Amino acid sequence: MSPLMRHKYSDYMHWSKTQSRARFNLATSGVGGFPLRELRVNLEKLEINGDNSYGYAPLQEAIAVHHGVDPECVVESAGTSMANHLAMAAIIEPGDEVLIEHPAYGPILDVAQYLQANVKRFPRTEENGWMVDPAEIRRCITTKTRLIVITNLHNPTSVLTPDSVLREIGDIARSVGALVLVDEVYLDAVYQGTPRTSFHLGPEVVVTSSLTKVYGVSGLRCGWILAQPDLAWKMRRLNNLYSATPVYPGELLSVVAFKHLSLLRERARPIVEVDRKLLHEFLAQQPAISAVQTDWGTTSFVRLRNANADVFLNRLRDDFETSVVPGRFFEMPDHFRIGMGVSTEMFAEGLSRIGRALA
Ligand SMILES: Cc1ncc(COP(=O)(O)O)c(C=O)c1O
Repeated sequence: MSPLMRHKYSDYMHWSKTQSRARFNLATSGVGGFPLRELRVNLEKLEINGDNSYGYAPLQEAIAVHHGVDPECVVESAGTSMANHLAMAAIIEPGDEVLIEHPAYGPILDVAQYLQANVKRFPRTEENGWMVDPAEIRRCITTKTRLIVITNLHNPTSVLTPDSVLREIGDIARSVGALVLVDEVYLDAVYQGTPRTSFHLGPEVVVTSSLTKVYGVSGLRCGWILAQPDLAWKMRRLNNLYSATPVYPGELLSVVAFKHLSLLRERARPIVEVDRKLLHEFLAQQPAISAVQTDWGTTSFVRLRNANADVFLNRLRDDFETSVVPGRFFEMPDHFRIGMGVSTEMFAEGLSRIGRALA
């Protein structure tokens, strides 16, 4: 690719849309779908058009209440995907340094490259339980750094970053005038003692999230950004170049989803919890694989010891009808990601097939 040509694709998203499905699909990242019939919605009240030029006020209010923030700080977006894009595009100029965790969710890297950022990486290592080590950020930050990006919970490992570490990262960012983008799309999968959004930790923190992964309503594409009011306006105005206005019926349904948020979350919770228990039992019996075990989250990042992961994953798919996400999409080709929370029957059978493929 010529250095003047921009990066304009996501290999991971393309794979996910075209090749991730299988009879036993463990290549998922969020919980199973919440059916419309179980959402207590009066369809007679649904409407196609309405007042939502810069977002639908009741939805902005619902997001603001959910997080305990001012509605002025809430920017609606089409999922966390568009939230990450808008946030980064509003903050980064070509050539700006952006520090992104490694391993990372592919599309975050793709967007930073598309925006012609000078992308630098800081490692989260398996030996350190995949935790963010602020010393690693300190090591690579410079006065040209404009943004530090992390996911919390971390995709692919589901490791939680505590507020104390996030605060330290905020301090490092502030020392060079940079911002911190925290993608919290999985944070509400911490079912007990759910942390408050890191947006409250300081004005240098920008947060993205959505109802897609933990609440089972991905189809609504209800996403958002939390940012200081000036920056929030920059993002709304930038969005005039993209999707301009949100989908109004989606916003109406999203308001209903917010009214019943705990119903949506609790429906998936027992499935996630049983799947995690099965995964931990399975890992204990399988010397050929290992993973940092977490209490929360819908994904686990598994290391395959002493075997070629591509050969193994192809055999798993072809001979055992089971899919997982290849670690190469997280730049770690001897790992793979397993998703929990869709159907325990499917998950259990998928694990059993992984076991047979390993044998
Ligand atoms: C860390 C992370 N951010 C964003 C997204 C995209 O989320 P959404 O479906 O809300 O666009 C994903 C989806 O897998 C993700 O893992």
